[in-house]
Amino acid sequence: MALLIGCGLKARVAKIALRCYLRVYVQTTGNPLMSQSPLILGIESSCDDTAASVVSAGREILSSVVKGQGGLHDRYGGVVPEIAARAHAERLDHAIEQALETAGVTLQKITLISATSGPGLIGGVLSGLMTAKALSVATGIPYVGVNHLAGHALTPRLTDGIDYPYLMVLVSGGHCQFIAVSGPEEFQRLGGTIDDAPGEAFDKTARLLGLGYPGGPAVEAEAKTGDPNRFDLPRPLLDRPGCDMSFSGLKTALRRQRDLLADAQGGLYRQDRADLCAGFQSAVADVLSEKTRRALNACGSGMTSLTVAGGVAANAAIRSGLERVAVEANLPCIAPPLALCTDNAAMIAWAGWEQYQAGRRTDLTLAARPRWPLDALASPQLGSGKKGAKA
Ligand code: KG4
Ligand code: ZN
Repeated sequence: MALLIGCGLKARVAKIALRCYLRVYVQTTGNPLMSQSPLILGIESSCDDTAASVVSAGREILSSVVKGQGGLHDRYGGVVPEIAARAHAERLDHAIEQALETAGVTLQKITLISATSGPGLIGGVLSGLMTAKALSVATGIPYVGVNHLAGHALTPRLTDGIDYPYLMVLVSGGHCQFIAVSGPEEFQRLGGTIDDAPGEAFDKTARLLGLGYPGGPAVEAEAKTGDPNRFDLPRPLLDRPGCDMSFSGLKTALRRQRDLLADAQGGLYRQDRADLCAGFQSAVADVLSEKTRRALNACGSGMTSLTVAGGVAANAAIRSGLERVAVEANLPCIAPPLALCTDNAAMIAWAGWEQYQAGRRTDLTLAARPRWPLDALASPQLGSGKKGAKA
């Protein structure tokens, strides 16, 4: 069954990719004043954002198109992989066309096509990867398949031109890890969450307290009027050495406090909710700060900066905690603009270019990888399950 779905999807995507090639190749008009640097077309489709971007090797983002799928999944309470894959297949050609048009270039001007080839939802990854392969075959432009997390990890090189090595704290709805980045394909995973990612914990907390989705901004807004010290919420794994984190116990502790209040009072007052949000946020910020401190210590001297990416990096309390850790370590704290911290294709274009220059080549046999740890040598993680780490 899975094979049938996969094959059907591949055929559909190949057709769409061909249509996309014909449209973008034939219709778009070039801008002769474009920069002389090589241009890279990035394609991202690993979760529920369909994205395309044109980036110059001179670190200029000429376009970055991100088409969300929010409305399609809302009523299911999470991303439905098959719906996401179909939506990617329908939107990829439009996203690519729009990215080329906004950048003012034709496909012929592109030097390299770079697509996410994992990790992520297999149908979505296949859609983007097949599109990249079809465009490459049709035009003769080389393509590379890159790791989505490498895109996040190399973003500060695109936005701020920082030098290697640096520490990346990736905190999003799906991921949470500390990565020492020493080159375009040199990543050392120092630790990460063994269960929920922080964004996921924010989202679940918001749901427990009857707040909207996405939960992060809603919890942060409530926390503004709350007392972070009213409830004694745990700081999981701070008593253990190393950089691993756990956020699911924190969420359970919060649920217990909520239930105690509800039993005693018959419900929650507005202030209760604000205090719970403030307590939760401050616990996450404390854990992230302390574990980041340890990750920096594990890196030793020579790091050029502390960098942050992922949607949770938008949280002011978490961000200022990390900034304090950077000041203590005498390092700049670099957080790319939010649109480049969250999923986008500019980061995939850039990662592809850096890796291509370092010698990475991928041919048409490259397979999409739903699981693809950035650091293949990292020791098995707690909570990874039988199939090993996802990312
Ligand atoms: O990186 P991202 O945009 O998407 C993926 O995970 O792929 O991260 C989204 C996550 C959501 O869980 C959202 O609740 C969280 O980032 N988030 C926040 C804030 N803004 C977004 N978490 C805490 N505070 C925020 N202000
Ligand atoms: Zn991501």
